[in-house]
Amino acid sequence: MRAVRCERQGPPEEMKLVELPDPVPAAGEAVVRLYACGLNRRDVWIRQGLYARIRLPCVLGSDGAGVVESVGPGVDASLIGKRVVLIPCENWGPDPAVQGKDFLILGMPRQGTMAEKIAIPASMVVELPESISFEEAAALPVAGLTAYRSLVTRGGLKRGEHVLVTGIGGGVATLALLFAKALGAEVSVTSGNDEKLAKARELGAIAAANYKAKAWEKDLVAQAGRPPSLAIDGAGGDGLNNLIAALAPAGRIVMYGATRFSPGKLDMPRIFFKQIDLRGTTMGTDDEFRAMVKLVADHRIKPVIDRTFPLSHAVEAIQLLEQSEQMGKIVLDCRK
Ligand SMILES: NC(=O)c1ccc[n+]([C@@H]2O[C@H](COP(=O)([O-])OP(=O)(O)OC[C@H]3O[C@@H](n4cnc5c(N)ncnc54)[C@H](OP(=O)(O)O)[C@@H]3O)[C@@H](O)[C@H]2O)c1
Repeated sequence: MRAVRCERQGPPEEMKLVELPDPVPAAGEAVVRLYACGLNRRDVWIRQGLYARIRLPCVLGSDGAGVVESVGPGVDASLIGKRVVLIPCENWGPDPAVQGKDFLILGMPRQGTMAEKIAIPASMVVELPESISFEEAAALPVAGLTAYRSLVTRGGLKRGEHVLVTGIGGGVATLALLFAKALGAEVSVTSGNDEKLAKARELGAIAAANYKAKAWEKDLVAQAGRPPSLAIDGAGGDGLNNLIAALAPAGRIVMYGATRFSPGKLDMPRIFFKQIDLRGTTMGTDDEFRAMVKLVADHRIKPVIDRTFPLSHAVEAIQLLEQSEQMGKIVLDCRK
């Protein structure tokens, strides 16, 4: 089979299209013929050496959708031929509040989804509702699971609430916007790009501000007519202080990433005086994954897909992601 393997840390050209033996299902496993694979910032962090416990060479990619081709001993053969989406992580552990020490994300150290086929535990495949295409499904796993847990489990989002989603060009952020709207919230957004702000308004954002502008939070609250009570943020950096300033008293910030790393200074007085909750989150449980797929199917949510590249053009696709020029997800067609 063809696969895109990251050979070692370095520039995007270290991602090489290679021929590998077709996977064979072991006991308890299914082999999925992948139709589409979604890209994540994680794929970039690993190649750049900015990730924990990197083991290369490895076929990266955590998001995948396709058709079950074969199953190993102990797996129900009726799975063969089913359209499926892959749960992007394994071994969450017994406590729904936090993942255990054996928790792993697909695509390093285990072979990932930038390939024509993958062998994975059958427990990681979820049947895909007919209304969701392979391309749409491949846009969901990491970003959708993260957005769902951020909003629902960690954020405790309530119908009618005003939620601020930062960096709306991002894969997690666009899904968070769509999910929050489907759950009955009002959504405001930020971006460093005015075109993306305009697109977010088309997707239903009630207020949109450019985070590069000084004191953007005042403008955003004025546009919305009220401050957000929940913020979903994957950027971190000094912008965290703007979020603390933007929030209503007793507001919550759910942090799922740190694209801008840690803040140089944290506005501690505002955090305690406004009774702000800072909450971390990462990925989610298998049950949350299933609930997320159901939410997408029930509300006919269409993930925002910026562009689809053939698997053979993965390097080009990764470069686009690295430049943060995309709006939403970048997907690879694993059949081309
Ligand atoms: N904890 C988890 O389980 C988990 C899961 C997925 C992702 N993550 C992390 O979350 C982050 C985003 O992931 P992703 O896959 O959604 O990434 P992505 O699609 O690459 O999006 C990153 C976005 O960050 C935004 N951004 C950059 N600087 C910003 C700033 N100063 N303020 C606000 N937004 C800013 C940009 O938005 P604009 O283009 O609109 O400016 C950019 O599009 C990454 O750090 C990733 O590693 C964590």
